[in-house]
Amino acid sequence: MIGIYFSGTGNTKHCTEKLVHLLDETAQTLPMEEKETVEKIAKQDFVILAYPVQYSNVPVIVRDFIKTNAALWKDKKVFCVATMGLFSGDGAGCSARLLKKYGAEVVGGLHILMPDSVCDVKLLKRPLEKNRKIIRAADRKMEICAEKIRQGRFPKNGLHFYDHVAGLLCQRLWFYGKTKNYSDQIKISDACTGCGQCARLCPMGNLSLKNNRAEAGNCCTMCYRCISACPAQAITLLGDKIVEQCRYDKYGSQ
Ligand SMILES: Cc1cc2nc3c(=O)[nH]c(=O)nc-3n(C[C@H](O)[C@H](O)[C@H](O)COP(=O)(O)O)c2cc1C
Ligand code: SF4
Ligand code: SF4
Repeated sequence: MIGIYFSGTGNTKHCTEKLVHLLDETAQTLPMEEKETVEKIAKQDFVILAYPVQYSNVPVIVRDFIKTNAALWKDKKVFCVATMGLFSGDGAGCSARLLKKYGAEVVGGLHILMPDSVCDVKLLKRPLEKNRKIIRAADRKMEICAEKIRQGRFPKNGLHFYDHVAGLLCQRLWFYGKTKNYSDQIKISDACTGCGQCARLCPMGNLSLKNNRAEAGNCCTMCYRCISACPAQAITLLGDKIVEQCRYDKYGSQ
């Protein structure tokens, strides 16, 4: 077994590590953007694939990873995990359908509520204690899930037909344009000090320094990693002002 994740602000990383560890203490978890990930997946029969939902869809970087490595999925057993700030009808189902197309056997799906990662929009912002409570509930959900998997009863969150309809009607129909392609909408304000932190962290290589200031290209996968990490709060995407930088590690001990 191996756990593969994409995580902007740390929620999905936490969930993947926790779930994989509960199932097999010796199994590895790896971020999708690591070079050796493909090679490591090729050696395993069972893959836990996790990512944050974006407008009830799979982030472009994850869709591209699945498509670029199409041959990798044939006959693999895959369990799809989607983390979310509020709701996604078929967050796990979206990758499941793509993986099935490439020959994977999707054994189940799990939706996990976590703190919201969109740090430049007020909606869904909760006090620290509430976010800690959400993480405790997520951990409990993963414990129950691991127990079910051990009994061979895989949860099927997001995989049913009615989940597909809910994902479509509630979000994708209206917001599909936002997740269709990589974004060129990253904004960098004059507050930028040129520290280079964002460029070091971006999984897409979408940020670079020019004349001691960060500059963004047009291949952002909207993960909010740079936005949450910028010490000068100089980066925004969907909103225009940082409300609260969201990072799993900041929620502290639970
Ligand atoms: C661009 C964007 C769109 C999002 N859309 C949704 C959504 O449709 N539904 C939802 O419940 N959460 C949504 N979220 C919240 C994240 O899915 C959630 O906070 C996730 O746990 C973040 O995981 P990460 O820390 O691993 O990046 C969105 C986040 C981003 C950045
Ligand atoms: S992390 Fe923020 S301050 Fe540092 S270079 Fe990037 S935008 Fe500028
Ligand atoms: S520019 Fe920022 S939000 Fe966009 S992919 Fe890079 S780190 Fe993520």
